[in-house]
Amino acid sequence: MSKAEPPSTSASRNKRHIIIGVSIAVLAIGSGLTAYFVTKNNTITSPGSEATATPTGNPTTPSPSQRKKLFGYWGQAAVSNGVGPLGMGTRPAPPASQEQKMLRVYCDTGLYDSINLAFLYSFGGGDGSWGIDFGYVGPGNPQGNGFFGRYSVGAGGVVSADTNQTLFAEIGRDITYCQGKGVKVVMAIGGDQSSPYKWSTGDGKRYANLWYNSFLNGTTDATAPRPFGKAVLDGLQLDIETTGQGWIQEMVDFMVTIKKLSPGSIYSIVPECQSGQVKDQDLNTGPVIQDPSVHLDYIIIQYYNNPTCSYPFGFNYATWKTYFKGPIALGLASDESSAITGGFLNPGQLQAVLDMVSSDSQFYGISLYDVSSGSAPFSNYSSTVRSALDGKRVGSGYPAQGARTSQSDWRSACGGQWNYVNQTCGVYPPCNPDNSCSDTNQLCFHFLSKC
Ligand SMILES: *[C@@H]1O[C@H](CO)[C@@H](O)[C@H](O)[C@H]1NC(C)=O
Ligand SMILES: *[C@@H]1O[C@H](CO)[C@@H](O)[C@H](O)[C@H]1NC(C)=O
Ligand SMILES: *[C@@H]1O[C@H](CO)[C@@H](O)[C@H](O)[C@H]1NC(C)=O
Ligand SMILES: *[C@@H]1O[C@H](CO)[C@@H](O)[C@H](O)[C@H]1NC(C)=O
Repeated sequence: MSKAEPPSTSASRNKRHIIIGVSIAVLAIGSGLTAYFVTKNNTITSPGSEATATPTGNPTTPSPSQRKKLFGYWGQAAVSNGVGPLGMGTRPAPPASQEQKMLRVYCDTGLYDSINLAFLYSFGGGDGSWGIDFGYVGPGNPQGNGFFGRYSVGAGGVVSADTNQTLFAEIGRDITYCQGKGVKVVMAIGGDQSSPYKWSTGDGKRYANLWYNSFLNGTTDATAPRPFGKAVLDGLQLDIETTGQGWIQEMVDFMVTIKKLSPGSIYSIVPECQSGQVKDQDLNTGPVIQDPSVHLDYIIIQYYNNPTCSYPFGFNYATWKTYFKGPIALGLASDESSAITGGFLNPGQLQAVLDMVSSDSQFYGISLYDVSSGSAPFSNYSSTVRSALDGKRVGSGYPAQGARTSQSDWRSACGGQWNYVNQTCGVYPPCNPDNSCSDTNQLCFHFLSKC
């Protein structure tokens, strides 16, 4: 989800965390996806619609164990994206007071059940190297951009000299603090497809062993680097948004191995709602999710990045229920600029979606990308979502969506208010006339704004 780039100067910093519209993006829409749209209809008619254990008593105050989960991504400073209604770089940098804050600030809100640390963005290739990128964290420099939150480990477990270990130790203390407040903290592995991660032969087992020692209760290597010190993360999550030869098997190996090493930790996968252009399923992680030897505590489906399978253009929760029988959370954007390919639902739309899924036995909660753009003082969307998950109506809802066939249908579906910005390859370059990008690691996509 994030575009992690080499260290940049503070002048270019605001562009660093632009969230790239991972995966197929809207590029496919003009060309191949028409048939897909036409057949989409959004009613959830699955058999699993018996009511969940609805909390009794006041619906706005379920006990913590009963309540639907609110997940939040932390680390990518989505509030600093700079994506305005007219595209990249058209929103001024937020004031320092709104920059991404230290983790504990978000745990103190009491809104989140779980934080996904984003991202362990770099790994693979056989030498055991890996790296974390949390963007800029906390009130650091005069521009309010914070301290550089990157932790890099080279071959042989050597921590790179430009890593701010003081900052990471502080994040470690925040993790323990959050856990003390009942908030789970898991490491999200992967992110945006242009990030430098890959699964080479043997990497699955290799990283299961390395990260068991670096993030979990690992006991097989006392010298392993531990970015967060003594803090033990609650689990690990795979957010792999591209693929390569043998990757599926490596990810299966990773999941099976890590589960064996630390059976009590929490494991999840975050597929895109649909990144394959033929099937509904995410082809990058779908086969891992469905592998019978892989045991996941839940999945979070990214209902951003791919408008074709997201509300209101083809919300495919029912389809995912056929792929995965466990708890399912919906991944949404915290505001219109957090994920440039959409995924933000205003309260009315949010209510419409919850009306469709909240009585489904597999519905587990909502995950927001990210906490910085969903929290005060920038917004209080996370508290809106929390209330909605707790059973309070936050909007009037909308009628069920119909099939969509084209951009202009989208516009009419939005009452003429569809706010569509032209395609881009990422931070600066526009797409080539043929919808390709000069940087072959990037995809051409459209920024979908408010409906
Ligand atoms: C590292 O982070 C800490 C905050 O935890 C900060 O005080 C310090 O100045 C940072 N060091 C560098 C070199 O940025
Ligand atoms: C890690 O080990 C400690 C000490 O043995 C134990 O108290 C704790 O519950 C373990 N945590 C996990 C997540 O397994
Ligand atoms: C936060 O929510 C309240 C309603 O609960 C609303 O009145 C207020 O304007 C919201 N604040 C922001 C910054 O969105
Ligand atoms: C998008 O492209 C169309 C046609 O090329 C142009 O008329 C329009 O101004 C562009 N919109 C934006 C926001 O750049």
